[in-house]
Amino acid sequence: MNLKDQFIEYFVSKGHKQIPSAPIVPENDPSVLFNTAGMQPLIPYLMGQPHPYGKRLCDYQKCVRLTDLESIGDKTHHTFFEMLGNWSLGDYFKKESIGYSFEFLTSILKIPVNKLAVTVYEGDDKIPRDEVSASTWASLGIPKERIAYLGKEDNFWIPGNKGPCGSDTEIFYWRSDEEVPEKFQPEDDRWVEIWNNVFMEFYQDAEGNVTELKQKNVDTGMGLERVVAVLENVNDNYLTSIWKNLREKLETISHKTYEGNEEAMRILMDHVRTSVFIASDPAGIKPSNTDQGYILRRLIRRAIRYARKLEMDIHSNFLEELALVVIEEYQDYYHELKENKEVVLEVLKQEQIKFSRTLEKGLKVFEKVAQNSNYIDGETAFHLYDTYGFPIELTKEEATLRNMQVDEEGFKIHFQNHQEKSRTASAGKFKGGLSGNSEIETKYHTATHLLNAALKKVIGPSVHQLGSNITEERLRFDFPCDHKLTDEEKQKVEDLVNEWIKEAIPVTKEIMSKEEALKSGAECMFIDKYPNEVTVYKIGDISKELCGGPHVNNTKEIGHFKIKKEESSSAGVRRIKGIIE
Ligand code: SER
Repeated sequence: MNLKDQFIEYFVSKGHKQIPSAPIVPENDPSVLFNTAGMQPLIPYLMGQPHPYGKRLCDYQKCVRLTDLESIGDKTHHTFFEMLGNWSLGDYFKKESIGYSFEFLTSILKIPVNKLAVTVYEGDDKIPRDEVSASTWASLGIPKERIAYLGKEDNFWIPGNKGPCGSDTEIFYWRSDEEVPEKFQPEDDRWVEIWNNVFMEFYQDAEGNVTELKQKNVDTGMGLERVVAVLENVNDNYLTSIWKNLREKLETISHKTYEGNEEAMRILMDHVRTSVFIASDPAGIKPSNTDQGYILRRLIRRAIRYARKLEMDIHSNFLEELALVVIEEYQDYYHELKENKEVVLEVLKQEQIKFSRTLEKGLKVFEKVAQNSNYIDGETAFHLYDTYGFPIELTKEEATLRNMQVDEEGFKIHFQNHQEKSRTASAGKFKGGLSGNSEIETKYHTATHLLNAALKKVIGPSVHQLGSNITEERLRFDFPCDHKLTDEEKQKVEDLVNEWIKEAIPVTKEIMSKEEALKSGAECMFIDKYPNEVTVYKIGDISKELCGGPHVNNTKEIGHFKIKKEESSSAGVRRIKGIIE
């Protein structure tokens, strides 16, 4: 029996009702493009509305997460994944939930207790340390050394920046052939998180106010692909049984082996699978230039691009052949794949025809620019997008292949001007597509300026922005620096940003000529690529940057900033990933 069936069978035997997977495009929630977690469709019920199926539920939910689109190609990331979950809506709480998880892992999946470790919430001034979870784990046989207490950043879960939330306990599995260490060190990445049990008893609004929910809930989530990889003892998710048929099909039609072509094959397989699921959704998404349609278009086109890299004939019916494998594999679990099979195939085919026609033409333009310059300006990038259907990501990829730079900021400005002129799309349509402007992304924009300023103070004036990327989940900032930041430096940068946030500094915006902007000392990446009139954003006397925005009105709106990761991006360039809490 496969994991999905085992999971459902177990929880049904414990009085849970299986609920069908909700559509991948949320039905009544325009604030997100896709379901990103099993709990998302259940938010009203976690808030207290009675669920027609009762108080104990379980399911497997199809999810799409696009935050790390650029990480696809490695061993562990996917844009589509399935999440197994069980819920108590005001019924059982911590003890029972932990008991079920423990029994399922050790008795049904037969994972040795010695390979497990857990984290629990260490507490804060409002919520006490979670001794109930810790003692429950201990009573089941998890030794003290394998129970770690962690803070809000790790053991508190909230969907985005508002919603039902609470502390959680996370279960880790020792994924290594080396001997299991007695003491659990959560930062040792041989321990992989496999299951998250959230004890949802609070509601947090967008301003950060926390109130108690009507009922105490349990929300658990287990990522299917990761757990299958663990159980099958492979360290590349794409080598599990989940991908076997698709992988073999791709090897056959490309006349290439997976080994040696991993990156391109992973991207192609991932994107085809996700595209099939999006196109089969009852929402009837078709490739377009906005919202979910834009994502679908981007995935299909990127899949085709990687087929090209694999030297496949992009005019052949390879997309159809791969899609048919996906449909065959999943149709017993998701009937919409069967019902909408023809629609899916047609969507893929039409988009393939459209794209392959323009691709060749666009690449010619690209080559022409490449002959005389190592730089794609905003106007050219927009021309490639507008006339040849090149998403900005494709332009960036083609540029990277040729060691060229792309003026993304300039592209955005052209794109926005175009949007305003044509008045066909509202500002909201940017969301999740090209340049996000949701509330959280706006906060990240301003946080990026503060981070840039803080780095200059801590590392030195030579720091400046080499690249920046913002999603709803994090910011990413690349800057020149010849060394790995020390813990002390990171702490200083973080503290400085948070100090400025606390100081509640107003953010002001001024339109001026490019010359004036330069004279005033405003910072900017590619000055000559900007139009004559530019916008300069100022944060007190801390930062002054030429930027398309949008930004918050006052730094206090940002919340708490945290550096999640500091790593090398390329020689002499460091990359910081930061979040807002
Ligand atoms: N909501 C939690 C998660 O997504 C548990 O389901 O991890």
